[in-house]
Amino acid sequence: MKESIFDHIIHGGDYNPDQWIDTPEIWDEDMRLMNLAHVNSATVGIFAWGMLEPEEGVYNFEWMDKLLDMLHKNGKDVILATPSGARPNWLAQKYPEVLRVEESGIRNEYGVRHNHCLTSPIYREKVRSINRLLAERYKDHPAVKMWHISNEYCGECHCELCQEAFREWLKKEYHNSLDELNFKWWNGFWSHQVTDWSQINSPKFRGENHVSAMKLAWKRFVSESHISFFENEIAPLKEITPNIPITTNFMKMYDGINYQDFAKKLDLVSWDNYPAWDKGNNENEALDTAFVHDAFRTMGGGKPFFMMESTPSLVNWHDVNKLPRPNRQALSAIQAVAHGADSVQYFQWRKSRGGHEKFHGAVVDHCGHENTRVFKEVSTLGENLEKLSNVVGEHCNSKVAIICDWENGWAVKSFCGYNNLQRDYYHECTKWYATFWKKGISVDIIAMDDDYSKYDLVIAPFLYMLKEGTISRIESYVKNGGNFLATYLSGIVDKDDLCFLGGFPGNELKDVFGIWVEETDSLPEGMKNVVEYKGKEYDAINFCDILHSKGADVLATYKQDFYSETPAVTENNYGKGKAYYTAFANKGDFFEDFSNSLINEHNIAPDTDIKAEDGISIRKRGNTIFVMNFADTEKELVLDKEYINLITNEKISGKVTLSVCEYLVIE
Ligand code: GLA
Ligand code: ZN
Repeated sequence: MKESIFDHIIHGGDYNPDQWIDTPEIWDEDMRLMNLAHVNSATVGIFAWGMLEPEEGVYNFEWMDKLLDMLHKNGKDVILATPSGARPNWLAQKYPEVLRVEESGIRNEYGVRHNHCLTSPIYREKVRSINRLLAERYKDHPAVKMWHISNEYCGECHCELCQEAFREWLKKEYHNSLDELNFKWWNGFWSHQVTDWSQINSPKFRGENHVSAMKLAWKRFVSESHISFFENEIAPLKEITPNIPITTNFMKMYDGINYQDFAKKLDLVSWDNYPAWDKGNNENEALDTAFVHDAFRTMGGGKPFFMMESTPSLVNWHDVNKLPRPNRQALSAIQAVAHGADSVQYFQWRKSRGGHEKFHGAVVDHCGHENTRVFKEVSTLGENLEKLSNVVGEHCNSKVAIICDWENGWAVKSFCGYNNLQRDYYHECTKWYATFWKKGISVDIIAMDDDYSKYDLVIAPFLYMLKEGTISRIESYVKNGGNFLATYLSGIVDKDDLCFLGGFPGNELKDVFGIWVEETDSLPEGMKNVVEYKGKEYDAINFCDILHSKGADVLATYKQDFYSETPAVTENNYGKGKAYYTAFANKGDFFEDFSNSLINEHNIAPDTDIKAEDGISIRKRGNTIFVMNFADTEKELVLDKEYINLITNEKISGKVTLSVCEYLVIE
């Protein structure tokens, strides 16, 4: 299936020539260099509010006119940003309410960026009006192809306006009934009954922070505030430029916003990809990054996404900013395309001369010319990407899904009990993902209320919270022939963190899985139990559910402690499908062997028949196959037939050796 906005891979990035307003010769030089670097797009205006509106109501768009014309003349597509991510000094000085109030209750002073109240009517109005002017002025500009809304929405505000908005949000959520809220929050505990809405404040370290349902409600409220802020921003754009698609750049698995919800509002999902390459285990870094790419692709309904930012060399915000080795960033870019990206974009085109990010990698360094390692790598990659236009718009076809649900992530983090130290939900999901990644089997990363029916196998690690409808969704999926795997501490609470009564996993899931979990043991670091599965022993760490089979087949049992010989892995036939339960956490070796059994049992084939050594990742997108060496040594693979190398246009077959950071794109 093909679906895309562009007919070529976008290669470009953040371009901030407003920082070079007094040196027009640099603007001209940028055009020459962009052509040399095979850059075809520029994202402009992200933090340009101060330049566009230097004083309230005084506008200066001429430089932007010139910039867009110049980019267009040079054949570059423009992604035009709205500037709300940072505001001019005058705005904060005149309207202090636009500045954010931290959890301490103290209002921030002017400074940094992303420092605005999400509720302030004045800020919302100011944002709408600058966006309206941008849209009106550039609605017919031939270079403008997409809107980049704000920048990396994040954070929260605790000002009185936001508190009041939170109370209003709660009234809607709980049907204007304090009785309902008190019940859902279990406020009889510690005498916390709310008797008037005005008693409710945002969760705070020095205030209410032990009511987990309330903390969840606040998370949902903040997330929805960001989304409503975004909707406010785009209203004039949708009205004036209904045909220009809209995106905003997400940040990895940032948990302050429910990206799975937010993505539904976007024409195209994009994210900023900054892996910590060459600082430890590159294969793990590649696995983690692959997972995130898949998550964003899935969020966009499987459509191609954009890698809106990446660095062409180093970053400046690690403790120690190691240079990635030669070709590392090109390999990283190819990985994005392999997983469904239709763009490779950088932060940023030209290094700033001053300011906080002057030592952050850029395509053009302070030396100002093209004779650098980084520039050459970028232009080689750009040239290669031009040969891959066939892949643009192509989807990936996944038969396996992993549920990694934002709200469940919040819930897992916030409850108190069991093992309070080992709660890395996202890491737990990537551990299950690893086997499929290694084998070249495409995986979608879904939310608990997405559609499961198109998958042969759905894996739900640590699905502690079940939202309304999730139980029946799992039930009908399995009944109709699906294969569903759940792990320890699953089906414990509802959306308000109220425990299911009558035994875990909640309600009908006991029948689906054919089990009842009576207790959960938590193991401190260094302690373990042992599980025997198919004659092999595995460590059970962190969490061990102690359960009874109520009809499920027992595939493995614990071997130690007072629950020795009780079930640790079960399989239940339910309707036409199967429900598996793995009751313990593990470093990953059991997950790998068990996933392999499931792959065999359910005939889940890798996307290609190419055989490769560990460290090589193989991905298929449309008819194009990407083979990437993420190991720190040379690796071999054997091609199953003759292919065309799309970069060299030569035939290729048989045994192939890939050096460190080398990749192949074949068809
Ligand atoms: C983020 C921001 C950019 C820049 C980069 C630096 O992704 O969106 O403006 O600060 O980080 O890595
Ligand atoms: Zn606020």
